[in-house]
Amino acid sequence: MFNQTQNTNQKKMNGPNGTNKGLKGPVFYCEDLSVQFDEIAALKSVQLTVERGEIIFVTGASGAGKTTLLKVLSGLTEPTSGRIIRPNQDNGKKSLFISNVFQDLRLMGKYTCEENLMFAYDSSLYANKAEFIQDMNELSRILGVKDRLKLKVSDANGGLKQKVAIIRSLLTRPDVLIADEPTSSLDIDNTRRLFDVLNLYNVKRGLTVIWATHNKELIKSFTGRIIHLDNGRLVYSGNACFI
Ligand SMILES: Nc1ncnc2c1ncn2[C@@H]1O[C@H](COP(=O)(O)OP(=O)(O)O)[C@@H](O)[C@H]1O
Ligand SMILES: [Mg+2]
Repeated sequence: MFNQTQNTNQKKMNGPNGTNKGLKGPVFYCEDLSVQFDEIAALKSVQLTVERGEIIFVTGASGAGKTTLLKVLSGLTEPTSGRIIRPNQDNGKKSLFISNVFQDLRLMGKYTCEENLMFAYDSSLYANKAEFIQDMNELSRILGVKDRLKLKVSDANGGLKQKVAIIRSLLTRPDVLIADEPTSSLDIDNTRRLFDVLNLYNVKRGLTVIWATHNKELIKSFTGRIIHLDNGRLVYSGNACFI
């Protein structure tokens, strides 16, 4: 499932169908990144470079700093010291589009799942609605939710909501997807299906994925890059099989 090498990704990403507009260099550099909440050091001197087209799992126990790292990468939390550089976004360059899925999901309960997905059209980079709907249908079919899209979000179960949130995020055509444990209500088969979709978008569109999880079963079948946090420190960056 995750046997895509970074070099292959790089080639695909720079192809004519990629969404990354020929951008060069890494997506993020973190230099000595620290985040302090009163007495709690949530992140301690994290060094990290994320290359475009990578799929990265951020792992670690509860309280290790995963959410804080994802929020700093997304620009939602400012580091207390150190710095984060987004070479394709800082200094007024808005060419890198980052989409987030955090644990609150931000779906609108009084609308149907499909309506929630359609709201993504306005903020997306799709040239026309037909193409958007085609992708919406394809994603819904692969994830097995097509026949449940007419349900109101308030009547949907946790797994359906998590899938809708990911589909909506992908429908905005981001360059980078940052997701914080959005598979807590999904079983292992559904979680794998979701990762197949991300892998597809990674190959097809050069999507960079940064995904926090504590799902060890999932990590076992992942041959890409794992970043492991322990008590705010980045203690491992490398292949899953050595963790
Ligand atoms: N807004 C906040 N205010 C105070 N402490 C926080 C805040 N956010 C996170 N923390 C603390 O920072 C540490 C790391 O939290 P977090 O990044 O949420 O870890 P994880 O996502 O790995 O569970 C924890 O000790 C947590 O209690
Ligand atoms: Mg968290």
